[in-house]
Amino acid sequence: MMTFLKIDRLSAFYGKARALHDISLSVKQGEIIAIVGANGAGKSTLLDSIMGLTKTEGDISLEGKSLIGKTTPEIVQSGVGYAPERFNLFPYMSVYNNLMVGAFTAREDIKRNLAIVEKLFPRLKERTNQETHTQSGGERQMVSLGRALMSSPRLLLVDEPTIGLAPKICLEIAVVLKRLRDEFNTTIVITEQNANFAMTLAERLYVLESGSIKIEGLAKDLKNDPQLTEAYFGH
Ligand SMILES: Nc1ncnc2c1ncn2[C@@H]1O[C@H](COP(=O)(O)OP(=O)(O)O)[C@@H](O)[C@H]1O
Ligand SMILES: [Mg+2]
Repeated sequence: MMTFLKIDRLSAFYGKARALHDISLSVKQGEIIAIVGANGAGKSTLLDSIMGLTKTEGDISLEGKSLIGKTTPEIVQSGVGYAPERFNLFPYMSVYNNLMVGAFTAREDIKRNLAIVEKLFPRLKERTNQETHTQSGGERQMVSLGRALMSSPRLLLVDEPTIGLAPKICLEIAVVLKRLRDEFNTTIVITEQNANFAMTLAERLYVLESGSIKIEGLAKDLKNDPQLTEAYFGH
């Protein structure tokens, strides 16, 4: 498999403060990877940087084409979908209209993408007219993922999909993300504080600490890594 997303010596800055230090990673097409790290490690900054939302040095490329210098709508149009950490849904708009917000770069695909979203999240189809402020956290996470899918992404970035959700809902989300990859070959990058969840979903993990990658490897190998076990499996 060829490298699909390649990040090469990426640093990101908030003013003069450096939030990411020389991050390099690569993701193959159809892979699911997880960026695992504690609060403040730089997970959101990394995904924001891929979307062109931060000040960076270094390179980010998708299928060999650099995303540096592109605007966020151009990055979305080139095939990157983003479900950000706090969802950023419009609370007084319906599920349907929130989904449509994600479709602005892919108007000609609305019918097809809506069918995919309704297939993956039957609950959203039942509640298409519900305003999102009346929904549960799990349902809002589904709307957020659905909205990202309305942009026809080949690469989907999901920031902390399980934050604040009950274990049963986390599992549902994991099943849907796996189906998305298996049925549509969507490449998926998630971030997680929950290493257990990350390992149930991702084939490969990168551990981020204070803006640097500290450990990387296959989930099946890292399951028994004492360094990771101690730091991220809660004691
Ligand atoms: N808008 C911002 N302005 C200044 N510093 C920020 C901003 N966003 C994040 N940071 C800092 O960057 C670092 C990484 O934050 P973040 O990417 O949000 O971590 P995580 O998502 O892993 O919790 C933290 O030190 C945080 O305080
Ligand atoms: Mg974050």
